[in-house]
Amino acid sequence: MKTRITEMLGIQHPIIQGGMHYVGFAELAAAVSNAGGLGVITGLTQKTPADLANEIAKCRDLTDKPFGVNLTFLPTVSSPDYPGYVKAIIEGGVKVVETAGRNPSEVMPYLKDAGIKVIHKCTSVRHSLKAQSIGCDAVSVDGFECGGHPGEDDIPNMILLPRAADELEIPFVASGGMADARSLVAALSMGAEGMNMGTRFIATKEAPVHQKVKEAIVAASELDTRLVMRPLRNTERVLTNAAVERLLEKEQRLGKDLKFEDIIDEVAGVYPKIMMDGDMEAGAWSCGMVAGLIHDIPTCEELISGIMAEAEIIVRKRLEGMWAA
Ligand SMILES: Cc1cc2nc3c(=O)[nH]c(=O)nc-3n(C[C@H](O)[C@H](O)[C@H](O)COP(=O)(O)O)c2cc1C
Repeated sequence: MKTRITEMLGIQHPIIQGGMHYVGFAELAAAVSNAGGLGVITGLTQKTPADLANEIAKCRDLTDKPFGVNLTFLPTVSSPDYPGYVKAIIEGGVKVVETAGRNPSEVMPYLKDAGIKVIHKCTSVRHSLKAQSIGCDAVSVDGFECGGHPGEDDIPNMILLPRAADELEIPFVASGGMADARSLVAALSMGAEGMNMGTRFIATKEAPVHQKVKEAIVAASELDTRLVMRPLRNTERVLTNAAVERLLEKEQRLGKDLKFEDIIDEVAGVYPKIMMDGDMEAGAWSCGMVAGLIHDIPTCEELISGIMAEAEIIVRKRLEGMWAA
């Protein structure tokens, strides 16, 4: 399949693995890229720019295909050395960067000078247009279904994707709720040039996370995510557990008096405990509603080649067959 995204990124299949904190290590990024998609290393999971440089080098040892790095600009407890991370990306010869959170205008000149393609992930048409206006090459349009930060507009992809298609000139991929060939064909039919998956890629053999995390996603249904931190306007979709229910109870009790410090136990420093130690009650961790569509733990190659094979059947047999009938 050839789309504006496969052409732009030099990849075989229009499938991207979104940056994920404590998931997007070199092993996963390389596995996705080797399977013909675009794997993405999560920049800020690496504690320093030197660590990111090592992770990029490690990924390059594992694949000769293109891969990207995610740079997230969200409120964090520490303040990351963004210029240092950008330098590591450029010196590491990375050719694609996925930005997210705030718009990436301050790093754009450096990335563009280095010939890097920038895909900004955003949750609204207005942020997508802003990304286009500051020179981003593509956007990843993240609907309300998504794992992680869906923004505050709550527009699901059934509406958001065609709205983006109506307004944007640069290509976009659909993100949030994408799991299989049905997602890909639907996204393409709504104007996207490919899809970005997060949660689905955690439940793969190569994702370097604790087995309990993968099993939790397989066990979860579409009813098992919750939105936390809405009162702080930093909404995050997470898998429910005892810590999340405790957090929601605090949100309800404190109302508009809620401060970040009130929920720090449930949200700060959680990712290594969940992803590496498998301590599944440690706190809130991002997970999409798409968990309800995930029932297995394939390799990235099985997942991506299966999606592409089935997408062809859907288009050439099921849809085409409907016209013939
Ligand atoms: C565990 C987890 C961690 C994530 N961490 C990040 C992150 O650090 N930066 C970012 O831009 N997006 C992050 N995301 C969002 C994903 O890149 C992607 O946009 C999202 O998962 C898409 O929705 P889906 O889970 O329904 O596929 C994370 C998602 C998950 C599930």
